[in-house]
Amino acid sequence: MAPIQLSFPLPHGIQTRIHVHLTIQKLSVLLFLTTVTAESSNAPAPMGSFVCAMPNRTNATAPPLSSPLYTVPETLDFTTRVAKIVAWRSGRPTYVGSSMSFVSAGLGGTVDEEMEGLNKVIEVVMGEIDKAGKS
Ligand SMILES: *[C@@H]1O[C@H](CO)[C@@H](O)[C@H](O)[C@H]1NC(C)=O
Ligand SMILES: *[C@@H]1O[C@H](CO)[C@@H](O)[C@H](O)[C@H]1NC(C)=O
Repeated sequence: MAPIQLSFPLPHGIQTRIHVHLTIQKLSVLLFLTTVTAESSNAPAPMGSFVCAMPNRTNATAPPLSSPLYTVPETLDFTTRVAKIVAWRSGRPTYVGSSMSFVSAGLGGTVDEEMEGLNKVIEVVMGEIDKAGKS
């Protein structure tokens, strides 16, 4: 399946967009996330964390196990959360690389702003995975 590339505004972001690069396969999901601001749009994307999350094969309702493959401390928590949720909801091993930054959100990246960003990413990504599953 060809990679899907999408972008949408960061909730409360000031001229900031979330860029999504998603490859959906029968047995895995590969997802890259970054934020692009008006100033950074010509710069190379910064390196983020890379995390793998595995669904529990014996119990689909148990939380997935995750392991960081590459760590950039300020992005690790968000990357891990995305990987676990997508693994859990898709039932597939999920690899997520993310250098998303919330500093350009309205209040500079509060817990609530991060949560809204997380929810938006999950909604968009699971929408694409569900669509791919039906085709
Ligand atoms: C998977 O879930 C089962 C049942 O809840 C549990 O016993 C087992 O330890 C879990 N495995 C992993 C790798 O988390
Ligand atoms: C599966 O995991 C859930 C959540 O961790 C737990 O409550 C449940 O007891 C587990 N089921 C089995 C059969 O181990």
